[in-house]
Amino acid sequence: MAKVAVVYHSGYGHTKVQAEAVVRGASAIAGAEVKLIAVEDYDKHWSALDEADAIIFGAPTYMAGASAPFKAFLDATSARWAEQRWKDKLAAGFTNSAGHNGDKLNTLQQLSLFAMQHGMVWVGLGLLPGNHSSKGSVEDLNRLASFLGAMAQSNADQSSEIVPPLSDRKTAEHLGARVAQAALRWRQGAATPAMAAAQ
Ligand SMILES: Cc1cc2nc3c(=O)[nH]c(=O)nc-3n(C[C@H](O)[C@H](O)[C@H](O)COP(=O)(O)O)c2cc1C
Repeated sequence: MAKVAVVYHSGYGHTKVQAEAVVRGASAIAGAEVKLIAVEDYDKHWSALDEADAIIFGAPTYMAGASAPFKAFLDATSARWAEQRWKDKLAAGFTNSAGHNGDKLNTLQQLSLFAMQHGMVWVGLGLLPGNHSSKGSVEDLNRLASFLGAMAQSNADQSSEIVPPLSDRKTAEHLGARVAQAALRWRQGAATPAMAAAQ
């Protein structure tokens, strides 16, 4: 069994849809126990975060970076950073914004650097770019062609019932499944005696 925590912020519901898709993907992996945490409630969930084998971070891109409530959560982890309590956990990230680009790569970079500060091990999306040739379409998995994490795009004037589109939701599911599988392998590996110790 491996524990995966998904912590997210969503001001208007679009990134929540993406977070729920990440949870769906992770939950589809046998042996994964998945917990969804709204960032407003992070204070009630420190033990779940501390116990997780993997934490997947998700924030909408606001003003070219993670939204302020999500940044407040990142800052609130500094006591854990000082103790390197999350060292060697797996980490991954997702973000959603109105622009197809919208500078959201910066949000994923912010999340991955945060994970590096904690000594975590970053898991990227693991998909080739979709929709990047004449044979591609907006329905492709990874249509926004990200490598660092899952990206989604939601038109600013449409509700979260309609956007982000299915391809972005499927891409988020893929990330969740990939991280859950990695967490299971990571946990199994941790239970195996190190080669040096076995010799
Ligand atoms: C304060 C604010 C700043 C935003 N900045 C950006 C931005 O830098 N790039 C972008 O593409 N969209 C930006 N947006 C649009 C949001 O990323 C987009 O509406 C997203 O779907 C919101 O997700 P949410 O419903 O989960 O809050 C911004 C929205 C707000 C409210």
